[in-house]
Amino acid sequence: MPRFPAGFHWGVATSAYQIEGAVREGGRGVSIWDTFCRQPGAIRDGHTGDVATDSYHRWEQDVALLAGLGVTAYRFSIAWPRVQPDGKGPANGPGLDYYERLTDALLAAGITPVPTLYHWDLPQPIEDEGGWLERQTAQRFADYAALTAERLADRIEIWITLNEPFVVTAFGYALGMHAPGKALMLDALPTAHHQLLGHGLAAAALRAAGARQVMITNNYSPAWPASQSEADRAATRAYDILHNRMFTDPVLLGRYPDLSAFGLGGDAPGRPSGGGAPPGGGDPASGLACVRDGDLAVISAPLDGLGVNYYMPTRLSALPGSPLPFQLEPIPGYPVTAFGWPVVPAALTELLTLLGERYGSALPPVHITENGCSHDDTPAEDGTVDDQFRIGYLDGHLRALHAAITAGADVRGYFHWTLADNFEWTEGFHQRFGLVHVDHDTQARTPKASYAWYRDLIAAQRP
Ligand code: FCB
Repeated sequence: MPRFPAGFHWGVATSAYQIEGAVREGGRGVSIWDTFCRQPGAIRDGHTGDVATDSYHRWEQDVALLAGLGVTAYRFSIAWPRVQPDGKGPANGPGLDYYERLTDALLAAGITPVPTLYHWDLPQPIEDEGGWLERQTAQRFADYAALTAERLADRIEIWITLNEPFVVTAFGYALGMHAPGKALMLDALPTAHHQLLGHGLAAAALRAAGARQVMITNNYSPAWPASQSEADRAATRAYDILHNRMFTDPVLLGRYPDLSAFGLGGDAPGRPSGGGAPPGGGDPASGLACVRDGDLAVISAPLDGLGVNYYMPTRLSALPGSPLPFQLEPIPGYPVTAFGWPVVPAALTELLTLLGERYGSALPPVHITENGCSHDDTPAEDGTVDDQFRIGYLDGHLRALHAAITAGADVRGYFHWTLADNFEWTEGFHQRFGLVHVDHDTQARTPKASYAWYRDLIAAQRP
């Protein structure tokens, strides 16, 4: 493996609901994922995150695994319902105590803590008031950020506000596949703006409390047309706007992308071109009625980094007459993960090049905050797990990342998803993404071959 720049952060990433369990301990309130997991058919085989990998109790063991790996940074998430059980009001002491213990243990092990404030576990009472469809949720999120930073910003330098707001809007509110399970299609778009406003308000609150670096993490997927037909290329542009631009242009450029492909904005059919606010006010360019004067300035306050989650590209063809005018096509010719996701390391280089071209000097330093693969890792008779597939995946993606850096991308860190097999949302415990195998009956943790491979790589990269 070629050498990465000095000071490059080597890490792994996790999230609270996927690992902590202990959903009724320490004063934690109910989250939308607790509720969603109880809906019949929502999660494969009815699995839940009630116990997950029990990291709430086994966090010391997990910190020891991180130390053994030699990571320089650890991305985890803070559960809003642990800090504010109802999503508002004063902080719940025991909830913050948990993250304080974790933070102090990481620091003692020489590992930089990188918390994400929102990795999808919205307090249920906030959802009961409309969740991200409601503007006031943005302010509530900022209040929670302030309470958390008040306790921890003296020790935590790098903060991430949101994880993958695109997935929240698309899967949570448009398609109903994730919590809170709403299938509003394009009527879900206010959740995009309210999350971004929450990001902007939280970023300001974090800085006011002394946070030195603030980032947002987005999920990106290079969009490939299924053919060179104009229809497929237009479908690809439309998809690219929703997935890759909608949550980044406002943050880095201070404006929404052109949403006319979705019947919104000044140039959309049936709207006066070039102007006129949407009915009820809002942003004339995007056609989003929920945007108020000054919001985009809040959303686009300068950031110290952009978190990039990359798993795979997306291939698209046209779907005329649909509110979402595209459909996803398979990408043949590549190996696939247990999830069926194509393994395309070169698209990571492509993505980082694209971000550089698209945003130019507006692009802050990038951190790859997630990248990884699920695989059916079955332990051998002697208990070992020889996950050569994951080693190949890691090797390929790190080389692709290095190629992007060589070509000029300013990338400061790589966080592999994930430390240990965990609760993979709608797939329950069926997808194993870990460098460490977890026996979900006994919670026994066994490092896989990829753990040793990554450990050796990190060691070899030390100055
Ligand atoms: C990402 C999520 C993360 C994990 C991976 C596989 O979209 O941020 O929690 O589930 O996918």
